[in-house]
Amino acid sequence: MFDKKVYEERRKQLRSRISSGVVLILGNQDAAFNYPANIYHFRQDSSFSYFFGLDHPNLAGIIDIENNNDYIFGNDVDIDDIIWMGPQESIKDQALLVGVENTDPMSKLEEFLKNAISSGRKIHFLPPYRGESLIQMEELLGIHHKQIKNYVSVELIKAIVAIRSIKDEYEIAEIEKMVDVAYKMHTTAMKMAMPGVIEREIAGTMEGISLSGGGPVSFPVILSINGQTLHNHFHGNILKEGRMMVADAGAESELLYSSDITRTVPVGGVFNQRQKDIYQIVLDANVKSIEAIKPGITYRSVHLLAARIIASGLKDIGLMKGDVDEAVRQGAHAMFFPHGLGHMMGMDVHDMEGLGENYVGYDEEIKRSDQFGLAFLRLGRKLQSGFVLTDEPGIYFIPALIDQWRKEGKFTEFINYDKVESFKDFGGIRIEDDILVTDTSYRVLGKPIPKTIAEIEETMRK
Ligand code: GLY
Ligand code: MN
Repeated sequence: MFDKKVYEERRKQLRSRISSGVVLILGNQDAAFNYPANIYHFRQDSSFSYFFGLDHPNLAGIIDIENNNDYIFGNDVDIDDIIWMGPQESIKDQALLVGVENTDPMSKLEEFLKNAISSGRKIHFLPPYRGESLIQMEELLGIHHKQIKNYVSVELIKAIVAIRSIKDEYEIAEIEKMVDVAYKMHTTAMKMAMPGVIEREIAGTMEGISLSGGGPVSFPVILSINGQTLHNHFHGNILKEGRMMVADAGAESELLYSSDITRTVPVGGVFNQRQKDIYQIVLDANVKSIEAIKPGITYRSVHLLAARIIASGLKDIGLMKGDVDEAVRQGAHAMFFPHGLGHMMGMDVHDMEGLGENYVGYDEEIKRSDQFGLAFLRLGRKLQSGFVLTDEPGIYFIPALIDQWRKEGKFTEFINYDKVESFKDFGGIRIEDDILVTDTSYRVLGKPIPKTIAEIEETMRK
């Protein structure tokens, strides 16, 4: 964990942003995999970890605003736990490591909250995203689980988003360490992407590198020669010449910070001309949109810049036509680039998404669009120094979408459907980097991972 001053400072910041009442942040419980004793790898709740640091199940943190007290509720282990899981420090001793002096068993939490409620105090809590937490909230607060979402504290969500959005030097170092693990994952995957190899051999190797480099992957590995399916978790295809392999994967650190990197390579290690043409457009969109990143600019405008580069490149090779600005304004490019340019990244790979995507990525000034494509942009608002985000443009040839738009006669003034037909067997390409917004511009985090055509061919030759 970080030094206890880090957690004390974070709670102090939160305290200064909440007017009154009691902040309750639940830690996660263990989750059953296929029977109760066979559990998933434990993953602490990110906000609990951010403010209270401890990485064990069944804990809850309280920040009492008026009384200026913090508490950790949790049970000490008993002899059965010690036999199976080994000795553990008492909750009291663990809490002191993160600067919390008040501890109590879990059984006292309900009483604490009931007392606060009966004194007319507000309980601020975040939206639960796991069934176990939802039930725990119902039991603690006496609110039916279907109603819980109506009682979450928007004041708390906004305060936490404001604090967690700005990464300090220690957080940036954690993220950067994980980008360097992703470097090993991706350069290894590139070298393995040869005809005859099964996708799962590469996906499994990437996952193993992550585990040995810090922790589990930060989200299930996306790896496929069918990259036109944006989040393809099927790893059963045999690689063959002529396809591109998309690998979108990152690692999570011991302190729960993520990386999220995508590289796309030609199976066999040499781009053919058609692959070069499309790849270079995506690379230009990635590089030029990264170069536009700086505080004060909206990420929506950076997304639209990437969209214009994509539309213009596709026009140059005859897949699109007409006025590029108008095509992007109307959303015609989204047949090829149907997702957003990127998202916040930190302790969650889509950072804080569980608190509500629009609270994280949008604000009073920049509202989410409902246009196909732009609607999927997770981060649209103005950038600030200290944000960490992804920049991940792509071009995809999705046969079902092409057929549907063609049948509907959509954007025939901007899309050259006859030529697009000949690309239906292409697949997809995405290139993703993790970027820090600095005081004046940006920094691409981590050791540069090969991404030009020459660098990729060179890496795959080795
Ligand atoms: N890397 C997966 C995603 O950003 O959705
Ligand atoms: Mn991403």
